[in-house]
Amino acid sequence: MLVPLAACLLLGSIAAAAPAQAPLTAPNTTGTPRPLVIWHGLGDTAHSEGMDAFADRVRELYPGIYVHNVVAPRDASSSDESRAGWWGSAVGLGDDVCEQLAEIDELSGGFDAIGFSQGGLFIRYYAQYCNDPPVRNLITFGSPHFGIAALIPCPDPPTLACTLAARAAKAGIYTAWAQRNLIQAQYYRDPARLDEFLLSNEFIRDLNAEGGLDDDGEPTGREHGGLGLNEVENVVAIAFDEDETVVPGLSAHWATIDPDNTTAIIPLKDQQLYKQDWIGLRKLDKKGRLHLQTCPGRHMQIGGDGECGDKVLAKWVGWRA
Ligand SMILES: *[C@@H]1O[C@H](CO)[C@@H](O)[C@H](O)[C@H]1NC(C)=O
Ligand SMILES: *[C@@H]1O[C@H](CO)[C@@H](O)[C@H](O)[C@H]1NC(C)=O
Repeated sequence: MLVPLAACLLLGSIAAAAPAQAPLTAPNTTGTPRPLVIWHGLGDTAHSEGMDAFADRVRELYPGIYVHNVVAPRDASSSDESRAGWWGSAVGLGDDVCEQLAEIDELSGGFDAIGFSQGGLFIRYYAQYCNDPPVRNLITFGSPHFGIAALIPCPDPPTLACTLAARAAKAGIYTAWAQRNLIQAQYYRDPARLDEFLLSNEFIRDLNAEGGLDDDGEPTGREHGGLGLNEVENVVAIAFDEDETVVPGLSAHWATIDPDNTTAIIPLKDQQLYKQDWIGLRKLDKKGRLHLQTCPGRHMQIGGDGECGDKVLAKWVGWRA
């Protein structure tokens, strides 16, 4: 059975996590904790109850930390913001936030970033194409880094934005129109239709520097991956071991479905993306700075006090500068 929507679970679990104190300490207790930027998931908004509770939890763990919840597009009403998770241009949202973050004084010395689900792709866009000020630890929860091979299921009850987007997507995910207007189309990577994907998709294709295919069927266009992830200190990519919202769930670790056998999953290390190091993941890995981790449970079930989300916050956030 499919889980409804990331954001709903996220809201529930994070809100539940907020009130109590847990005995977690920062790795270093002198100096100021590094600021944190958080990009919410699909259907959610920067200041939903769940997102504010999560930011409060971070502040509780690291007193004095500066936390910024990304509003995209900037100054949008919460309904426009939620709609922007379904409709519009992923690149446009990314560029908007590049400007937004560059203007925040508190972030000027660099910051850690957390992206929830789809938000993890957007914050990665920031790190690869802007990164000024720079991202230090890039943490993603359940983000479809190598795309999705099926649409994210609509919440129950479905929202209009989701229903209409799903209907439009079914009419032609790789049409120029869908690729410009439907966010999920911009990271939809159907292993059975890779040629179409490589021709029509730009957002996730370029984010992974997958380019197109040359005469030998080899990927080209590596230059489109921007800075890659070389400048990030640590990439911490978290998958949920029962994720059925993102297909395949291990896309959170850059795994894909084998186009020749749809029940098999190709892990990151067997991808050309890794072997030829298109975006710097191999280099990061060799330096011990690529961390593919797993949380138990379904999509975005980060848990409450002392559970998976908290453990990630304890280890990767709040480092002292
Ligand atoms: C497809 O992949 C599955 C899972 O890895 C494997 O068990 C099965 O044998 C594969 N089928 C073929 C025809 O290779
Ligand atoms: C903790 O932060 C201080 C202040 O920046 C730094 O000098 C020190 O090396 C750090 N200690 C550890 C263990 O990282």
